[in-house]
Amino acid sequence: MRRFLTLALLLVAATIDAYSALPHPLALAASFSHISRELDLINLGNCSLANASIPLKDTEAKLPAPSTNLTLKYVVLGRGTQNYSCLALNAPSNHKATTKPIATGAAATLFDASCLASSSSALLHQLPEIMSNTPLGSIVFMAALLGQGTKSTDLIIGEHYFNAGGDPVFDLSLSGSQSWIVAKKDASVSAPATELSNSQSGNVPWLKLGHKDGCNIQEVYRVVTSQGDPPSTCTGQNETIQVAYAAEYWFYG
Ligand SMILES: *[C@@H]1O[C@H](CO)[C@@H](O)[C@H](O)[C@H]1NC(C)=O
Ligand SMILES: *[C@@H]1O[C@H](CO)[C@@H](O)[C@H](O)[C@H]1NC(C)=O
Ligand SMILES: *[C@@H]1O[C@H](CO)[C@@H](O)[C@H](O)[C@H]1NC(C)=O
Ligand SMILES: *[C@@H]1O[C@H](CO)[C@@H](O)[C@H](O)[C@H]1NC(C)=O
Ligand SMILES: *[C@@H]1O[C@H](CO)[C@@H](O)[C@H](O)[C@H]1NC(C)=O
Repeated sequence: MRRFLTLALLLVAATIDAYSALPHPLALAASFSHISRELDLINLGNCSLANASIPLKDTEAKLPAPSTNLTLKYVVLGRGTQNYSCLALNAPSNHKATTKPIATGAAATLFDASCLASSSSALLHQLPEIMSNTPLGSIVFMAALLGQGTKSTDLIIGEHYFNAGGDPVFDLSLSGSQSWIVAKKDASVSAPATELSNSQSGNVPWLKLGHKDGCNIQEVYRVVTSQGDPPSTCTGQNETIQVAYAAEYWFYG
């Protein structure tokens, strides 16, 4: 099992090597040896979430706490794109330079992180930044290796997308539970400043989402976001823009 994990981690290290915003190679190597040590101690399937704690204290303005009659059902890592449009409705195309990108939705693959949340939250909170800088295909491959190495069920447990009405949907049916939610935004706060960029983080806001429709899930939090913010104006941009992002999603029901 150790070999599977090490191979997978080396692949991730190789794919993120090209990104200048990431730490020095020695820091990266240290952090990967730390990750593989931690993973050795972790069972990757079937963990209790009884002691997992959502990091709501990290932002300057605070998101409201989960409703007290709900319990934590899933913790997942999402990796995908935040989508924007520079096709301002009714605006002649030469007005593009003064237009700001408009959010049009998002799409993401959801990876089971419940065992990390319960046994190694520090490691969990490092992963969105690594994942937003890693191609989705590499992560899917790594998840398949991890799943095999640990005999856990598939680590991909669902998807996040926007429906025809423009509402965010989280479908966790790959977890074998039929859980899904069509959500609505209840609260939004700026992502906290990070070590790498202490002012303009470029990380999408942290959110609390409520229930519009669904099964088994009442509330969803998007926290520990990495990237996903749009360029500040449409100058030089295509009509549609996809910005890579990753985040933790915490589901209560
Ligand atoms: C999960 O673990 C608990 C005990 O820790 C066990 O009772 C239960 O059967 C396990 N469930 C699955 C699906 O493996
Ligand atoms: C949760 O924490 C308590 C107190 O530290 C401990 O006794 C308990 O075994 C933990 N439960 C799980 C499922 O890890
Ligand atoms: C939890 O309580 C709220 C009111 O505070 C209620 O609207 C909601 O239906 C309750 N949810 C569950 C799962 O009991
Ligand atoms: C967002 O972009 C992705 C490609 O990354 C695409 O698959 C998805 O359909 C788009 N969703 C919306 C709502 O624009
Ligand atoms: C616009 O789209 C083209 C074709 O998909 C792509 O090659 C180019 O990099 C995009 N431009 C920007 C600024 O993203």
